[in-house]
Amino acid sequence: MILDRQSRINTNDLRTRLKVLLAQFSTDSQPGHLGDMETMTEFINQMQVYEGAMYEISTKLEILDSEFQVRFSHDPIHHMERRLKSVDSILGKLERKNLPVTIEAIRDNLFDVAGIRVICNYRDDVYSVANYLSAQSDIQALRVKDYIKSPKQNGYRSLHVIYAVPVFLSNGAHYTPVEVQFRTIAMDYWASLEHALRYKTDLPDNKHAEHAQTLLDCARSLQNVETQMQTIHRDINGAPQSGEA
Ligand code: GTP
Ligand code: MG
Repeated sequence: MILDRQSRINTNDLRTRLKVLLAQFSTDSQPGHLGDMETMTEFINQMQVYEGAMYEISTKLEILDSEFQVRFSHDPIHHMERRLKSVDSILGKLERKNLPVTIEAIRDNLFDVAGIRVICNYRDDVYSVANYLSAQSDIQALRVKDYIKSPKQNGYRSLHVIYAVPVFLSNGAHYTPVEVQFRTIAMDYWASLEHALRYKTDLPDNKHAEHAQTLLDCARSLQNVETQMQTIHRDINGAPQSGEA
Protein backbone atom coordinates (compact mmCIF):
# COMPACT_ATOMS: atom_id res chain seq x y z
CA MET A 1 0.00 0.00 0.00
CA ILE A 2 1.33 3.44 -0.92
CA LEU A 3 0.12 6.55 0.85
CA ASP A 4 0.57 9.66 -1.25
CA ARG A 5 1.17 12.66 0.95
CA GLN A 6 -0.20 14.92 -1.78
CA SER A 7 -1.82 14.64 -5.20
CA ARG A 8 0.08 14.69 -8.49
CA ILE A 9 1.90 17.83 -9.60
CA ASN A 10 -0.46 20.57 -10.61
CA THR A 11 1.42 23.08 -12.73
CA ASN A 12 -0.91 25.99 -12.05
CA ASP A 13 -0.94 25.46 -8.29
CA LEU A 14 2.82 25.20 -8.23
CA ARG A 15 3.26 28.38 -10.24
CA THR A 16 0.82 30.33 -8.05
CA ARG A 17 2.40 29.07 -4.81
CA LEU A 18 5.88 29.89 -6.05
CA LYS A 19 4.85 33.45 -7.00
CA VAL A 20 3.24 34.07 -3.61
CA LEU A 21 6.27 32.76 -1.76
CA LEU A 22 8.85 34.52 -3.87
CA ALA A 23 7.05 37.80 -3.28
CA GLN A 24 7.73 37.29 0.45
CA PHE A 25 11.32 36.16 -0.04
CA SER A 26 12.75 38.90 -2.26
CA THR A 27 12.03 41.18 -5.16
CA ASP A 28 14.95 39.66 -6.97
CA SER A 29 14.07 38.24 -10.41
CA GLN A 30 17.20 38.38 -12.50
CA PRO A 31 17.77 35.50 -14.97
CA GLY A 32 18.46 32.21 -13.20
CA HIS A 33 16.47 33.23 -10.11
CA LEU A 34 13.28 31.25 -9.57
CA GLY A 35 11.23 34.44 -9.90
CA ASP A 36 12.25 34.68 -13.54
CA MET A 37 9.43 33.36 -15.80
CA GLU A 38 11.63 31.01 -17.80
CA THR A 39 13.32 29.65 -14.70
CA MET A 40 9.93 29.13 -13.09
CA THR A 41 8.90 26.94 -16.01
CA GLU A 42 12.18 25.07 -15.73
CA PHE A 43 11.55 24.59 -12.01
CA ILE A 44 8.15 23.06 -12.71
CA ASN A 45 9.75 20.75 -15.28
CA GLN A 46 12.37 19.78 -12.70
CA MET A 47 9.63 18.96 -10.15
CA GLN A 48 8.05 16.66 -12.74
CA VAL A 49 11.40 14.83 -13.04
CA TYR A 50 11.58 14.46 -9.24
CA GLU A 51 8.05 13.07 -9.31
CA GLY A 52 9.08 10.59 -12.03
CA ALA A 53 12.09 9.47 -9.99
CA MET A 54 9.85 8.97 -6.95
CA TYR A 55 7.47 6.79 -8.99
CA GLU A 56 10.35 4.76 -10.47
CA ILE A 57 11.68 3.86 -7.03
CA SER A 58 8.27 3.15 -5.51
CA THR A 59 7.45 0.81 -8.39
CA LYS A 60 10.73 -1.05 -7.84
CA LEU A 61 9.83 -1.42 -4.17
CA GLU A 62 6.33 -2.66 -4.96
CA ILE A 63 7.75 -5.24 -7.37
CA LEU A 64 10.19 -6.50 -4.72
CA ASP A 65 7.41 -6.68 -2.17
CA SER A 66 5.14 -8.68 -4.47
CA GLU A 67 8.00 -11.02 -5.42
CA PHE A 68 8.52 -11.79 -1.72
CA GLN A 69 4.80 -12.31 -1.33
CA VAL A 70 4.66 -14.77 -4.23
CA ARG A 71 7.90 -16.64 -3.51
CA PHE A 72 8.09 -16.65 0.26
CA SER A 73 4.51 -15.83 1.31
CA HIS A 74 5.85 -12.89 3.27
CA ASP A 75 5.27 -9.16 2.74
CA PRO A 76 8.42 -7.36 3.88
CA ILE A 77 6.85 -3.94 3.32
CA HIS A 78 4.00 -2.99 5.60
CA HIS A 79 3.29 0.21 3.68
CA MET A 80 5.00 3.12 1.94
CA GLU A 81 4.54 6.87 2.06
CA ARG A 82 5.82 9.22 -0.57
CA ARG A 83 5.90 12.96 -1.08
CA LEU A 84 7.55 15.73 -3.02
CA LYS A 85 9.00 18.49 -0.89
CA SER A 86 6.65 21.46 -0.94
CA VAL A 87 7.76 24.72 -2.55
CA ASP A 88 7.64 26.29 0.93
CA SER A 89 10.05 23.70 2.34
CA ILE A 90 12.37 23.92 -0.66
CA LEU A 91 12.68 27.70 -0.32
CA GLY A 92 12.99 27.42 3.47
CA LYS A 93 15.82 24.92 3.17
CA LEU A 94 17.69 27.01 0.60
CA GLU A 95 17.46 29.96 2.96
CA ARG A 96 18.59 27.91 5.99
CA LYS A 97 21.59 26.66 4.06
CA ASN A 98 22.35 30.15 2.77
CA LEU A 99 21.98 29.01 -0.83
CA PRO A 100 20.76 31.06 -3.82
CA VAL A 101 17.18 30.56 -5.00
CA THR A 102 18.14 28.79 -8.23
CA ILE A 103 17.49 25.41 -9.83
CA GLU A 104 21.22 24.61 -9.74
CA ALA A 105 21.27 25.17 -5.98
CA ILE A 106 18.32 22.79 -5.59
CA ARG A 107 19.83 20.13 -7.89
CA ASP A 108 23.26 20.28 -6.29
CA ASN A 109 22.29 20.53 -2.63
CA LEU A 110 18.80 19.21 -1.90
CA PHE A 111 18.67 15.44 -2.16
CA ASP A 112 15.33 14.98 -0.47
CA VAL A 113 13.01 16.79 -2.89
CA ALA A 114 11.64 13.34 -3.76
CA GLY A 115 11.15 11.21 -0.65
CA ILE A 116 9.82 7.74 0.09
CA ARG A 117 9.36 6.15 3.48
CA VAL A 118 9.34 2.36 3.49
CA ILE A 119 7.80 0.92 6.63
CA CYS A 120 8.64 -2.74 7.18
CA ASN A 121 7.44 -5.28 9.70
CA TYR A 122 10.87 -6.36 10.98
CA ARG A 123 14.48 -5.17 11.00
CA ASP A 124 15.50 -8.10 8.76
CA ASP A 125 12.97 -6.84 6.20
CA VAL A 126 14.46 -3.35 6.31
CA TYR A 127 17.89 -4.65 5.39
CA SER A 128 16.75 -7.19 2.83
CA VAL A 129 14.55 -4.69 0.95
CA ALA A 130 17.28 -2.02 1.10
CA ASN A 131 19.98 -4.46 -0.03
CA TYR A 132 17.94 -5.79 -2.94
CA LEU A 133 17.04 -2.29 -4.07
CA SER A 134 20.65 -1.05 -3.77
CA ALA A 135 21.86 -4.03 -5.84
CA GLN A 136 19.72 -3.07 -8.86
CA SER A 137 22.02 -2.20 -11.73
CA ASP A 138 20.11 0.79 -13.10
CA ILE A 139 20.19 2.82 -9.90
CA GLN A 140 22.99 3.90 -7.62
CA ALA A 141 23.11 4.41 -3.86
CA LEU A 142 24.76 7.82 -3.50
CA ARG A 143 24.73 8.07 0.28
CA VAL A 144 23.80 5.73 3.13
CA LYS A 145 23.16 6.78 6.74
CA ASP A 146 22.48 3.84 9.00
CA TYR A 147 20.80 5.22 12.10
CA ILE A 148 19.73 1.65 12.98
CA LYS A 149 23.29 0.47 13.58
CA SER A 150 24.17 3.90 15.04
CA PRO A 151 21.02 5.53 16.43
CA LYS A 152 20.96 9.30 16.87
CA GLN A 153 21.44 10.64 20.38
CA ASN A 154 17.72 11.34 20.77
CA GLY A 155 16.96 7.66 19.97
CA TYR A 156 16.00 8.09 16.29
CA ARG A 157 16.49 4.94 14.22
CA SER A 158 16.04 4.46 10.43
CA LEU A 159 18.14 3.55 7.43
CA HIS A 160 18.46 6.46 4.99
CA VAL A 161 19.64 5.90 1.44
CA ILE A 162 19.83 8.48 -1.33
CA TYR A 163 19.49 6.82 -4.72
CA ALA A 164 20.25 8.29 -8.13
CA VAL A 165 17.63 7.03 -10.56
CA PRO A 166 17.47 7.64 -14.30
CA VAL A 167 14.26 9.27 -15.45
CA PHE A 168 13.83 8.93 -19.20
CA LEU A 169 12.35 11.97 -20.88
CA SER A 170 12.05 12.88 -24.56
CA ASN A 171 15.59 14.29 -24.42
CA GLY A 172 17.22 11.36 -22.63
CA ALA A 173 18.03 10.15 -19.11
CA HIS A 174 18.03 12.52 -16.14
CA TYR A 175 19.76 11.06 -13.07
CA THR A 176 17.70 12.24 -10.14
CA PRO A 177 18.13 11.77 -6.38
CA VAL A 178 15.42 10.19 -4.23
CA GLU A 179 15.73 9.93 -0.44
CA VAL A 180 14.43 6.62 0.88
CA GLN A 181 13.92 6.13 4.60
CA PHE A 182 13.63 2.45 5.55
CA ARG A 183 12.31 1.72 9.01
CA THR A 184 10.20 -0.72 11.02
CA ILE A 185 6.69 -0.08 12.30
CA ALA A 186 8.15 0.47 15.78
CA MET A 187 10.72 2.98 14.49
CA ASP A 188 7.98 4.81 12.60
CA TYR A 189 5.69 4.85 15.62
CA TRP A 190 8.51 6.41 17.65
CA ALA A 191 9.61 8.92 14.96
CA SER A 192 6.05 10.25 14.54
CA LEU A 193 5.76 11.14 18.22
CA GLU A 194 9.26 12.59 18.38
CA HIS A 195 8.48 14.72 15.33
CA ALA A 196 5.29 15.97 16.99
CA LEU A 197 7.20 16.84 20.16
CA ARG A 198 9.86 18.70 18.17
CA TYR A 199 7.27 20.98 16.59
CA LYS A 200 5.37 21.51 19.82
CA THR A 201 6.91 24.86 20.70
CA ASP A 202 4.44 26.01 23.33
CA LEU A 203 5.54 23.50 25.99
CA PRO A 204 7.60 24.71 28.98
CA ASP A 205 11.30 23.82 28.55
CA ASN A 206 11.35 21.42 31.47
CA LYS A 207 8.34 19.50 30.09
CA HIS A 208 10.04 19.31 26.73
CA ALA A 209 13.23 17.91 28.22
CA GLU A 210 11.28 15.45 30.36
CA HIS A 211 9.38 14.12 27.33
CA ALA A 212 12.57 13.91 25.29
CA GLN A 213 14.14 11.77 28.03
CA THR A 214 11.07 9.53 28.20
CA LEU A 215 11.20 9.19 24.42
CA LEU A 216 14.81 8.05 24.62
CA ASP A 217 13.75 5.36 27.12
CA CYS A 218 10.90 4.39 24.79
CA ALA A 219 13.33 4.05 21.87
CA ARG A 220 15.40 1.56 23.89
CA SER A 221 12.32 -0.37 25.02
CA LEU A 222 10.98 -0.54 21.48
CA GLN A 223 14.34 -1.77 20.24
CA ASN A 224 14.24 -4.58 22.82
CA VAL A 225 10.68 -5.57 21.95
CA GLU A 226 11.61 -5.53 18.28
CA THR A 227 14.62 -7.80 18.83
CA GLN A 228 12.52 -10.29 20.79
CA MET A 229 9.76 -10.32 18.19
CA GLN A 230 12.30 -10.60 15.38
CA THR A 231 13.72 -13.74 17.06
CA ILE A 232 10.28 -15.33 17.23
CA HIS A 233 9.62 -14.40 13.62
CA ARG A 234 12.93 -15.92 12.46
CA ASP A 235 12.15 -19.11 14.37
CA ILE A 236 8.76 -19.43 12.73
CA ASN A 237 9.78 -18.40 9.22
CA GLY A 238 13.44 -19.41 8.92
CA ALA A 239 16.48 -17.20 8.37
CA PRO A 240 16.07 -13.89 6.54
CA GLN A 241 16.57 -13.84 2.75
CA SER A 242 19.31 -11.25 3.00
CA GLY A 243 19.65 -10.01 6.54
CA GLU A 244 21.98 -7.55 8.13
CA ALA A 245 25.65 -8.49 8.29
P1 GTP B 1 18.33 17.48 6.40
O1 GTP B 1 17.67 16.78 5.25
O2 GTP B 1 18.64 18.89 6.12
O3 GTP B 1 17.57 17.30 7.68
O4 GTP B 1 19.77 16.87 6.62
P2 GTP B 1 20.32 15.42 6.29
O5 GTP B 1 20.05 15.14 4.85
O6 GTP B 1 21.71 15.31 6.81
O7 GTP B 1 19.37 14.59 7.22
P3 GTP B 1 19.25 13.08 7.64
O8 GTP B 1 19.57 12.11 6.54
O9 GTP B 1 19.93 12.87 8.93
O10 GTP B 1 17.67 13.08 7.91
C1 GTP B 1 16.77 13.43 6.94
C2 GTP B 1 15.33 13.14 7.36
O11 GTP B 1 15.26 12.04 8.28
C3 GTP B 1 14.62 14.26 8.08
O12 GTP B 1 14.08 15.17 7.17
C4 GTP B 1 13.54 13.49 8.85
O13 GTP B 1 12.48 13.09 7.97
C5 GTP B 1 14.27 12.25 9.26
N1 GTP B 1 14.94 12.42 10.56
C6 GTP B 1 16.26 12.61 10.78
N2 GTP B 1 16.52 12.73 12.09
C7 GTP B 1 15.34 12.63 12.73
C8 GTP B 1 14.95 12.69 14.11
O14 GTP B 1 15.76 12.87 15.02
N3 GTP B 1 13.62 12.54 14.39
C9 GTP B 1 12.69 12.34 13.43
N4 GTP B 1 11.40 12.21 13.81
N5 GTP B 1 13.01 12.29 12.12
C10 GTP B 1 14.32 12.44 11.77
MG1 MG C 1 15.92 16.08 4.75
